[in-house]
Amino acid sequence: MNANDAAIGRMLIPAAEIHTRISGLARRISDDYAGVGLLALTVLRGGFVFGADLIRRMDPAIAVQVDFLRAGSYGDGTTSSGRVDVEHPPPVDGRDVLIVEDIVDTGRTLESLQERIRDRGARSLRTVTLLDKEGRPDRRCTLDYVGFRIPDLFVVGYGLDYAQMYRHLPDIHVLNHEPRPEESP
Ligand code: XMP
Ligand code: MG
Repeated sequence: MNANDAAIGRMLIPAAEIHTRISGLARRISDDYAGVGLLALTVLRGGFVFGADLIRRMDPAIAVQVDFLRAGSYGDGTTSSGRVDVEHPPPVDGRDVLIVEDIVDTGRTLESLQERIRDRGARSLRTVTLLDKEGRPDRRCTLDYVGFRIPDLFVVGYGLDYAQMYRHLPDIHVLNHEPRPEESP
């Protein structure tokens, strides 16, 4: 499976643009957390590439710790099931937590995560998402830092998957269609 698959559509955001934008986000976050430090809490699996790049562009003088949790509502399809599963939420008591998300669509996943992190006693809570799907006015989650606002398209690459494929692509692409069984690995 690679970027030449029929399922992979046009490139929406090239890697170079992603990296420039992440440097800008990391600078802002470093300014905001100067002297405070933060726990970068990456949402698996989709956020793992973004989280790894983001923390390495933060000011080395900031005290950065990392942790991970798993959240999912999509199964293997391209539409939300509406039910959000959270696995392995780490201890956040008294911590300044930055949730690191790959993409926010309906906002249900993030809303549920934010509620749980607050309930578990975080001292402060902000969220960074690489991608924010436009046209969702009814959301109840909070976004503090956004990489790119994108149209309502299903996208893959740079950590984002379709049925666990395409996470390794360096650029972000639109998914053309759901692969037929004979195209699956
Ligand atoms: P909600 O609707 O809860 O969904 O905001 C957010 C989660 O759904 C996944 N998601 C996507 N994954 N391409 C993906 O690979 C997409 O276009 C997409 N849209 C939503 C993602 O896991 C996110 O955390
Ligand atoms: Mg996700």
